[in-house]
Amino acid sequence: MQPKDHWEKVYSTKAADEVSWFQEHAELSLKLIRDADVPSTASIIDVGGGASTLVDDLLANGYRNLTVLDLSAAALATAKTRLGSNAASVRWLEANVIEAALPERSFDVWHDRAVFHFLTSERTLSAARP
Ligand SMILES: C[S@@+](CC[C@H](N)C(=O)[O-])C[C@H]1O[C@@H](n2cnc3c(N)ncnc32)[C@H](O)[C@@H]1O
Repeated sequence: MQPKDHWEKVYSTKAADEVSWFQEHAELSLKLIRDADVPSTASIIDVGGGASTLVDDLLANGYRNLTVLDLSAAALATAKTRLGSNAASVRWLEANVIEAALPERSFDVWHDRAVFHFLTSERTLSAARP
């Protein structure tokens, strides 16, 4: 099974709070971003953000320049549905981070939780490609 199919299946068959990596709030990530004195105008990307609530809490903390990138359309749909009308103020990218055409030097903060440890060898990098 290709990685995209795997992740689509996960997010299509389990509720967001049923996955092992679920956090009601991404407390440590929020703390790290706050402690770094990141201004509210900063451009922040959550790579492999899935259905994480980090984006909800960043919006609640006044951050307005947010991007969530994930391989899974189902994950992004879950997050968008949860956010309701606030979803419109976030940039959503359904993409493979290995191949995504992200503009250079456009992000002040690059956040990844529980994503890059899947991409640790040539074999897994190749497998992530469609
Ligand atoms: C364990 S989940 C963590 C999700 C989120 N970061 C969190 O903390 O809840 C791993 C996430 O990485 C995404 N992912 C895996 N490989 C990816 C890739 N090559 N490009 C983009 N996203 C990927 C999956 O779709 C999934 O949402």
